[in-house]
Amino acid sequence: MTLGSNNLAGRPPGFVYRETKHGVLRRRRELTLDCEGADLAALAKKFGTPLYVYSAATIRARHQAFQRAFRHVRHAICYSVKANSNLSILHLLAEQGCGFDVVSGGELERVIAVDRKAAKTVVFSGVGKTRDELTAALKAGILLFNVESESELWALAECAGRRRTSARVALRVNPDVAAETHPYISTGLHQHKFGVPIAEARSLYAKASSARYLKVRGVSVHIGSQITEVAPFGEAMARVAELVRELRGDGHRIDYVDAGGGLGISYDKTDAGEFANRVEEYARTVSEPLKDLGVKLLLEPGRSIIGPAGILLTTVVYKKANNGKRFLLVDAAMNDLIRPALYGANHEIVPVKVQMDRAAKTEVADIVGPVCETGDFFARDRELPTVEEGDLLAILDSGAYGMVLASNYNTRPRPAEVLVSGKKAKVIRRRERIADLLRGEI
Ligand code: LLP
Repeated sequence: MTLGSNNLAGRPPGFVYRETKHGVLRRRRELTLDCEGADLAALAKKFGTPLYVYSAATIRARHQAFQRAFRHVRHAICYSVKANSNLSILHLLAEQGCGFDVVSGGELERVIAVDRKAAKTVVFSGVGKTRDELTAALKAGILLFNVESESELWALAECAGRRRTSARVALRVNPDVAAETHPYISTGLHQHKFGVPIAEARSLYAKASSARYLKVRGVSVHIGSQITEVAPFGEAMARVAELVRELRGDGHRIDYVDAGGGLGISYDKTDAGEFANRVEEYARTVSEPLKDLGVKLLLEPGRSIIGPAGILLTTVVYKKANNGKRFLLVDAAMNDLIRPALYGANHEIVPVKVQMDRAAKTEVADIVGPVCETGDFFARDRELPTVEEGDLLAILDSGAYGMVLASNYNTRPRPAEVLVSGKKAKVIRRRERIADLLRGEI
């Protein structure tokens, strides 16, 4: 790895190394990782580790990059709440005029808690919405239901009929497009549980339009997550565009096309800094097939907005070697950030402080947590500048699918979360206590 020059160069403005000088004649030069000018080591000292830290400037910048990229088309960004659902983060995005994509009654409640009026910007996706969830969404007056099966269509018709309120409906179609990503997060192939087969969509739209309280308004699609090539998005949208033409021919009113989320980020340093270009390319690819249709485009990005805006800070508790294999045992674990264990995901890991004279000295080690599973690792055979027990590490690009997937496995309280905005750091979720975990048990 290269530091200083540095491997964070080109990432969004959130996290950069700053050089400081210490000691006699200030000869000892040190690099310290900052978040918007806030010293991460100081934050770790104040709030403890493991600690999630987010950069508000990065979140805003990423949302704006989407807005800019889609400036030529009528559109709405509906941030995918599942990626990181902290209320302060939703609030920050709502302030920017962002809408929301939810997949449960719980996520909808979060959006309403942030701003009751934001419900008008909500699209509701998910294969297994219950009648209670559908009713709650009808009551809130959300923008669009992305319906994923005939059974759900009738359930929604029944709930809407009972309340005598109409529901704006899009069918989520499965375009049968393959996207290069981890099999657990690819969703657009015919064997996946998501959506309705695109070939069966027309007959289902006909049924939907026969229901008094259902208003057919759109088509939706989502082909997967962490997709770094734009071509599959273009392919999916070409199929959707064709369907929109057919549906209009059948007499349906199609105002919206929901393109879902899924734009990938770079978890390694190789293509860091290319996000603005990638989102522009994504925007061109997604909007091109729709250009003559006059629809409003809805987008549901999650990871690409919040992923690079967050890190997980952790402390090296012990160093050990077993038969020559080296381990850094840290105080975060798979229960705090499960992506490496679950998807074999790669996250860059960097020391928060690096002595410049020692920067060249590196060590290869597995970075592991204290949980009693061999799968509890953040990196294997990773080369890092030599660190000592007590030093801090930052696990980068942990803003998306980090805290939301955290659990209490091994009765470990979940980390605190801090949001940094222009040197001001605010706890946006306090660290869980053991008592929180025991509450509710009998
Ligand atoms: N819309 C729908 C219907 C989705 O299912 C998803 C993600 C999104 C939008 C947002 O996708 P994004 O822009 O964040 O890629 N836990 C996994 C990712 C699961 C994604 C699930 N669906 C991970 O850590 O990689």
